[in-house]
Amino acid sequence: MKSLIQQAIVFVCFTTLAYGLQNGLARTPPMGWLSWERFRCNTDCDNHPDSCISENLYMAMADRLVEDGYRDAGYEYVNIDDCWSNKTRDENGNLNPDSKRFPSGMKALADYMHKKGLKLGIYGDFGSKTCAGYPGSLNYLEKDANRFAEWGIDMFKMDGCNVDISLMKKGYPEMGQYLNATGRPILFSCSWPDYERGKGIPVDYQSVASHCNIWRNFVDIQDSWDSVLKIIDYQANITDQWGPVVGPGNFSDPDMLIIGDYSLSVSQSQAQMAMWAILAAPLLMSNDLRTISPEFREILLNKEVIQVNQDPLGIMGKRVLQIGKVQVWMKTLQSYEYAVAFLNEDDYGMPKNVTVQMGSLGIATGIYDVQDIFINKDFMDFSTDDKFSILVPPEGCRLLHLYPSELRHGRF
Ligand code: GLA
Repeated sequence: MKSLIQQAIVFVCFTTLAYGLQNGLARTPPMGWLSWERFRCNTDCDNHPDSCISENLYMAMADRLVEDGYRDAGYEYVNIDDCWSNKTRDENGNLNPDSKRFPSGMKALADYMHKKGLKLGIYGDFGSKTCAGYPGSLNYLEKDANRFAEWGIDMFKMDGCNVDISLMKKGYPEMGQYLNATGRPILFSCSWPDYERGKGIPVDYQSVASHCNIWRNFVDIQDSWDSVLKIIDYQANITDQWGPVVGPGNFSDPDMLIIGDYSLSVSQSQAQMAMWAILAAPLLMSNDLRTISPEFREILLNKEVIQVNQDPLGIMGKRVLQIGKVQVWMKTLQSYEYAVAFLNEDDYGMPKNVTVQMGSLGIATGIYDVQDIFINKDFMDFSTDDKFSILVPPEGCRLLHLYPSELRHGRF
């Protein structure tokens, strides 16, 4: 006869398998490309053959990801957003891609990605229709999960338009289970908390994190610096709630990177990249990789900032200090290392000099070497007791990686 402990273990394993999202994915924040912010719902391929939502667009981005070094830097998902399907389901209730815009079908598109060492993500909605009015998954959750798995889909973003929001608590976990049950590892991106927040319904953070790999919790990003700042500010105010549930397998998604689009300067782009790294946010670019300028590509491919984002501990950084219009953020990294970001919101035309004592930011006492990530400055030693001064560009950021001197010197 099994001991009580053995029985308890069997029970715990069984219930975890049955109710948790145990797919082993997103051990670090997922990285890739997503069409929405830059290409929206442009379905007019006659007039816009190169920028309409079609298989050509996703294949073109996949080619750039591979040839321009993004895949090798970690960007592996190519994600379709809204407006890919026919306007109605077929006679068997199945979703199908628009045959004019996706003539080869989704399976072929997924194969294309997989052959290139990439992954394919797709979009759907928990409601009767998607936000742009395409068929939603309400009453078809299981059918759609199976369809996505048959096609070879690797990530599913489930939006939450056109539905009674009180159904989400039950419906999103249900979809997580259907995705799991397909046996195909499909990363699950949930918009559920954002809809609850919008309605003032208290969000059950534990539940979201145990059923979703990544989740949106705030409004859509737009192509502006204001939008980036607004999102950062929201994240700053909720890290106490979300921080504890963020970690390998579960990340909060402040929405896409808009670096290389129309609005952000180089300095603002560094700031978005740095802050998404500090937040352990998914790095999903929404831009045109065919025409992006080299200075933006360089930011997106910066190995050190990606390393901060992809740190295996998966800790969500926090805003720890505000000095006038300069915010100071700190993220704990593996091996007793830290990342510290100084974000200057001010548009005053000269860099702001700020002085902090690093020890007061929650960094363990000691001597550290500093790597200044975007400026690529030499390392310099400092003690957490010392005063540390730094110039922070207007509407920009300085991102530092702190290495305990003793360990680093031992290693190199
Ligand atoms: C919502 C989502 C966006 C995008 C659109 C598509 O607004 O938040 O990210 O998916 O729907 O219609």
